[in-house]
Amino acid sequence: MDDQLTAAQALRYARELRHLHGEELVQRRRAEEAISLLRESYRTTVSALAAALELRDDATGRHAARVTEVATRLAQEVAPLLTTDPDLEYGFLLHDLGKIGIPDSILKKPGPLDEEEMEQMRYHPVLGVQILDAVPYLGKVTRDVVGSHHERWDGTGYPDGLAGREIPPAARIFAVADAYDAMTNDRAYRAAMPVEEALAEISRCAGTHFDPDIAAAFVELQGARVAA
Ligand SMILES: [Fe+2]
Repeated sequence: MDDQLTAAQALRYARELRHLHGEELVQRRRAEEAISLLRESYRTTVSALAAALELRDDATGRHAARVTEVATRLAQEVAPLLTTDPDLEYGFLLHDLGKIGIPDSILKKPGPLDEEEMEQMRYHPVLGVQILDAVPYLGKVTRDVVGSHHERWDGTGYPDGLAGREIPPAARIFAVADAYDAMTNDRAYRAAMPVEEALAEISRCAGTHFDPDIAAAFVELQGARVAA
């Protein structure tokens, strides 16, 4: 009799456990779907904001999306783990967020900037990070790109004059992609440079402006793409 009771009880427990496990799976799937929906809406919002920002100094508004594509490809080559963090793409898209605080008279000035204007312009990475402080879901890697994308390997960049590996990897990767994009697309003051010349310029600036390993990987990667 006791044995029968114990067996029946065990069976009941097993059924309850199975039921609970099934419930948990359903809840987990719902949570995962909600997170993925949320991520997608973050991404859409960030992309739209980036395109809106770009329209101020790029008539096509395509620079952010284009440079993000190139920088992401480079990151996959030199730091694949970084690409698993969505903050990387947000940083690439929003790199010039701080330019929102730079007046049009400076941002759109046709001639060269004077010393004071240059100083204001050089403040845009700091402004960008200050804006990000109000957006808690954008994390460290986003801030790294926004705050350090104008640092240079030899320490002569801005705003902090960081050198070598003091510069966060995401910012070092972005700097190469950004320079390439700037050189290979028309600007108000000059026509686009041929790809080969742009790659030669990146090689020339490896070890001064750019992280030499990242610059070399980029030249190889982009050279192979162009040749294909
Ligand atoms: Fe910038």
